[in-house]
Amino acid sequence: MHGAVLALSFGVSSALAAVYQNTENIVGPGFYNSFNFEAIPDPTTGRVNYVDQATATSANLTFASGDKFVLRADDTTVLDPSSAGRDSVRLQSKSAYSTHVAVFDIAHKPQGTWPAGETDILEGVNDQGTDQSTLHTAPGCTMPDSRPETGTPVSSDCDGTTPSNTGCGPAFNANGGGWYAMERTSDFIYVWFWARGDSSVPSDVAAGGSTVDTQFWGTPSAAFPNTSCDIGAFVAHNIIIHLTFCGAWAGDASVYASSGCPSTCYDFVNNNPSAFSDAFFEFNAINVYT
Ligand SMILES: *[C@@H]1O[C@H](CO)[C@@H](O)[C@H](O)[C@H]1NC(C)=O
Ligand SMILES: *[C@@H]1O[C@H](CO)[C@@H](O)[C@H](O)[C@H]1NC(C)=O
Repeated sequence: MHGAVLALSFGVSSALAAVYQNTENIVGPGFYNSFNFEAIPDPTTGRVNYVDQATATSANLTFASGDKFVLRADDTTVLDPSSAGRDSVRLQSKSAYSTHVAVFDIAHKPQGTWPAGETDILEGVNDQGTDQSTLHTAPGCTMPDSRPETGTPVSSDCDGTTPSNTGCGPAFNANGGGWYAMERTSDFIYVWFWARGDSSVPSDVAAGGSTVDTQFWGTPSAAFPNTSCDIGAFVAHNIIIHLTFCGAWAGDASVYASSGCPSTCYDFVNNNPSAFSDAFFEFNAINVYT
């Protein structure tokens, strides 16, 4: 019994011990250098019209100052039902990442309405009050029910092709800003969240410094271990930041109704621009470490 406990803790610490060096510090106008605007049809079939950089900046849908980067959707236009959707922004990082740590220092995340705001590590629908860290994969990838994480798993099936595409992440409370961090290795993907003002935020996370050491970060909010899924075989991924409305998940009639939202999702988006005034991201920084 005692021996088994020791063996487990050796296994965990050898998997966690890792110091990473800062390779990208993305702040303010730097977002325009590190990301491409993707004016493409929404892959999640949301009620959005992703615009290019010139359109976004002239409409102030993206805004950069010295140390802020803001990304929002149009919050003034009542939409014709036959239009392409609410003007919004989808950014994709120019770089792709395999083994790495990314720390997202977020001053404001979309809230107060019901948008599906998501990054690769942060998703929420319909003002449900919690966020999810989610892994969306091809069929056949599942997660064990018991994982070293503080969040509560909503599903163990990561198959992004299921009808509701909820993915396999846990929900955790994340109202207001804070730090989201993701560590990806060939053995696991871990996600942490610390709220602004949380005294347990590690100093290397809060400082956005030149190195981070994830072994001191504690139990992650979400853990995706390499058990049935060969995470080492996943392709390098890009960071995607976007705001979409009524996509395959948020717009699903049962998900939408259970969130207490009025009328249909499309009607609501078309007719209530001011409901999207708080649907914006404000970033202090994204730091990438390899
Ligand atoms: C653009 O958006 C930023 C961030 O929300 C805001 O501070 C600024 O006043 C806006 N500019 C205009 C011209 O509306
Ligand atoms: C990850 O899991 C897969 C399948 O379970 C296995 O083939 C692979 O060797 C594992 N990789 C590592 C790095 O443990």
